This record gives sequence, structure tokens and C-alpha cells, in this order.
Amino acid sequence: MRVVIAGGHGQIALRLTKLLAADGHQVVGLVRNPDHEADIASAGGQAVVLDLEQSDASAVAGVLTGADVAIFAAGAGPGSGKARKDTVDRGTAALFADAAEQAGVRRHIQVGSMGADRADSLTDDEVFTVYLKAKWAAEEDLRSRDLDWTILRPGSLTDDAGRGQVLLADKTGNGRISRDDVALVLAGLCDTPASIGRTLELVAGQTPVAEALTNL
Ligand SMILES: NC(=O)c1ccc[n+]([C@@H]2O[C@H](COP(=O)([O-])OP(=O)(O)OC[C@H]3O[C@@H](n4cnc5c(N)ncnc54)[C@H](OP(=O)(O)O)[C@@H]3O)[C@@H](O)[C@H]2O)c1
Repeated sequence: MRVVIAGGHGQIALRLTKLLAADGHQVVGLVRNPDHEADIASAGGQAVVLDLEQSDASAVAGVLTGADVAIFAAGAGPGSGKARKDTVDRGTAALFADAAEQAGVRRHIQVGSMGADRADSLTDDEVFTVYLKAKWAAEEDLRSRDLDWTILRPGSLTDDAGRGQVLLADKTGNGRISRDDVALVLAGLCDTPASIGRTLELVAGQTPVAEALTNL
């Protein structure tokens, strides 16, 4: 498979690149900082420098052309304010989906966030609320499209070593999940047709990832 990852230098994306490359897949990571190209190469992928907030859909479609899977794993990140929650967490997700449509890449996986469906009740933090609303808007945008989409909503991310055991379901309840295990699930979702048209939540659990994917 040829897989294009938006936010290619992200912590999940680099783990995912390693996994997919080790399985013999061709991985392209979109990065905005040329200094990140070497890290993508070390992970076994190929970087394309393209700032999604400064690009139009046709430029991104040019990179996506010929891909089998498009994965959105970008994010404005914890240090960012309300404006970039909108431009990145909502805006670039929609741009990436526009580009996938233009390029004719049907399989589309979006990294969402646990709590996106309950922004108003989950937190009093203004920026976090804007973030969750942006993630919800990105989800709603993707659900409206004629793509073979899957939305994966991880719980709170940790850098703990992956255990390879998860709870993957329409609703999981709040929880934590290591970035290693998110990457493992994303790699598996690429060729799990049963996940198409599903919005799935993911936290640490008791079920081996392969089994969790088979059970969908
Ligand atoms: N933190 C949590 O607990 C949590 C929970 C649930 C879901 N999530 C979601 O998980 C996803 C990824 O998590 P992570 O830990 O891997 O995040 P991360 O390490 O912050 O990675 C996000 C990546 O997006 C890139 N990016 C930002 N703006 C961009 C732009 N304009 N053009 C191209 N790339 C851009 C960043 O690039 P730079 O390095 O250049 O900034 C970064 O490499 C996000 O979608 C996040 O919303 C997070």
C-alpha cells in the first residue's frame, strides 16, 4: 500500500510510519518543517514538505494521487491557541479530505479525539472546548463525504510503551491509550473494511489489537 499521512512528523505518525514501513508499505509523511525530513526517512518513510495551513487542496491532491490510504494525524498541539484549533484541527482535516476526493483516494482515516461529541459538558477550559468543537466539526465534515472513512477517537494519549491490548468500540468510556497502541490500531485499520463508516473510540484494554480489529 501507499499511505499518505498528514502531520507526518507527529508522535503518532512517526510510530505509524515505522510500523507500515516495516511491513513493506510505502509511506509519505506531509511535514511543514524541512528539518523534519530526516526523521521521516529514519522511520522508513518519505517526507513531502507542505504546510497544510498554507496549501490548497489541489497541491495536497498532487501528493495523494496514487495513494491507497490517506491518514489525517495532524494537530495544532497543546501549546496552540483557539485560532489554530480552527485552522489545523478543523480546517486542515477538511482540506485533506477535499484533496483525497480530488485525488480519488477513497480510504480515509481521521484521528479524532475522545470527547469531541460532548465538548460543552466535558470541560470548563475554553481552549480545550474550542479544540473539541474543532475535532467534532472535522468529524462531521468527513462523515458527510462519499469516502471510505473511519474516525478513530483515542482517549488521553500517553508515551507509555504499547501493550498491544486495547478496547476499540463505538463507545468505550474515558481512558488512556499509549501512542504506540494508537499507531498499531491505525496500521490495522488501513485494511479493515469493517471499520468503514464507523466512528470508533480507543482506550487501553484487554483485547489484542488484531482481535479487536477482527471483532469490528
Ligand atoms: N493529546 C491527546 O491526549 C490527544 C487525545 C486524543 C486525540 N489526539 C489527537 O491525536 C492526533 C495526533 O497526536 P500526536 O500526539 O501525534 O500529535 P503531535 O505530535 O502534536 O503531532 C501533530 C503534528 O501535526 C503537525 N502539524 C501542525 N500543523 C500543521 C500544518 N499546518 N501542516 C502540516 N502539519 C502540521 C505538527 O507539525 P509540527 O511538528 O511542525 O508542529 C505535528 O507534527 C491529533 O489529531 C490530536 O488532536 C490527541
